[in-house]
Amino acid sequence: MSNEHPHPDHHPNEHHHPHEHRILNPATEEVIATVPATTPDEVAAAVARATGAQRGWAALAPADRARLLRRFAAAVDGHIEELAALEVREAGHPIGNARWEAGNVRDLLDYAAGGAERLSGAQIPVAGGLNVTFHEPLGVVAVIAPWNFPMPIAAWGTAPALAAGNAVILKPAETTPLTALRLAELALEAGLPEGLFQVLPGAGPVAGAALVEHPGVAKVVFTGSTAVGKEIMAKCAAGVKRVTLELGGKSPNIVFADADLERAAAAAPGSFLDNTGQDCCARSRILVQASVYDRFMELLAPAVTSFAVGDPADPATAMGPLISAAQRERVRSYVPEDAPAAIRGEAPKGKGFWYPATVLEATGPGDRAAVEEIFGPVAVVLPFEDEADAVRLANATDYGLSGSIWTRDVGRAVRVSRAVAAGNLSVNSHGSVRYATPFGGYKQSGLGRELGPDALAAFTETKNVFISTEISTEEQ
Ligand code: NAI
Ligand code: MG
Repeated sequence: MSNEHPHPDHHPNEHHHPHEHRILNPATEEVIATVPATTPDEVAAAVARATGAQRGWAALAPADRARLLRRFAAAVDGHIEELAALEVREAGHPIGNARWEAGNVRDLLDYAAGGAERLSGAQIPVAGGLNVTFHEPLGVVAVIAPWNFPMPIAAWGTAPALAAGNAVILKPAETTPLTALRLAELALEAGLPEGLFQVLPGAGPVAGAALVEHPGVAKVVFTGSTAVGKEIMAKCAAGVKRVTLELGGKSPNIVFADADLERAAAAAPGSFLDNTGQDCCARSRILVQASVYDRFMELLAPAVTSFAVGDPADPATAMGPLISAAQRERVRSYVPEDAPAAIRGEAPKGKGFWYPATVLEATGPGDRAAVEEIFGPVAVVLPFEDEADAVRLANATDYGLSGSIWTRDVGRAVRVSRAVAAGNLSVNSHGSVRYATPFGGYKQSGLGRELGPDALAAFTETKNVFISTEISTEEQ
């Protein structure tokens, strides 16, 4: 951060990949910090340190690893307000959301800590001996995190990887490194060994790419765009590196005529406006049964326009700005100024990357706004005729991350949940991400699963050992 890292002033930000990143408050456009950009040589040095630290960490008793991770969780718990305030300033998240996010990091560490002592293998019956399996750590894991949920997503990979005995190098997004850097300090204060959890801020194509290509990195956990995810997967193939990908989404919110329409309409805004729509699980395609379409839209309009937009530091705020000017341009490209929006909310004028809540009526299922991830507070509404039509529309995308189904018919809820090709579905709810349940995408939304009871397994190799019980010749 600017106060701690003196930086030479002969590096104007004219380079494509600057030697430092200016961190802006997206609500005010003020520069709040300057963070050095890690070079490929510094990445290599960090991998060497991590490799050394990992050996000692894996050799610790499982109970000691668990205890240190619980201390890390306690350190995070003691700094919830500080971490939340940083998230408000660098990411523009409403303070209520930011507090939840910091608490989520604590919970992820606590949950993973319990796994360190429960990483049991199997004893498999075979002839002539004892067969057992061990879940061994991979070594050094790289976590490349995005800016939309900087703290939780960093911890999704980091907490279980550490618990399973790995070292972690986290590369936060260019725009949001501050909470990650603070978490690394808290880890050291909590007693985690030096080098075990390192945070390297920097440019994706420089520091991120150097991590992905480094032979000392055994696994890459990436959350971000599908385009970069594909590139990372291809690079990992060269070294047969393990990879987990959490990519984009275009998730459906399917509202059947038999649903509690009032409840469905009241809940819909949060499902695509929370985090200003910068959420891989955003329910940005609202599919409504034609017979209740008009009624649903009447109920949806006041729910959208009353979603409180404004100063992220105000506890009453539900929606802040977008992360950056670039992201606002991206969002704008889907909604031309003269687009006939069905519903449009308000947004503050002046400084800050504000964008109003917007609901578009799709011109057709092939409409760009109806098929591409917008990652802003914009949803598209489409009518459907019957259950088969709803499922067909829901699946008419290369993505398959999340989705919601609103109906009072239990059988339909189960049928549609099974028919929609997505990793995380919710019925009469939009909640589908919990640290105790598995999370991940179908199709081009990703590869592998994070969170849940099996999270640690993704950071281990299974080793099978057969021990002969044959009587030795001397004893015969
Ligand atoms: P991005 O995929 O470029 O960035 C995500 C992370 O990857 C950042 O830490 C970035 O520094 C890193 N990165 C970028 N290029 C890299 C490379 N060549 N090698 C290694 N690491 C690299 O995403 P971006 O450009 O910030 O956002 C563009 C769009 O991607 C968004 O509008 C949204 O649609 C999608 N996205 C989806 C996310 C999700 O949660 N699934 C998160 C962020 C973005
Ligand atoms: Mg990018």
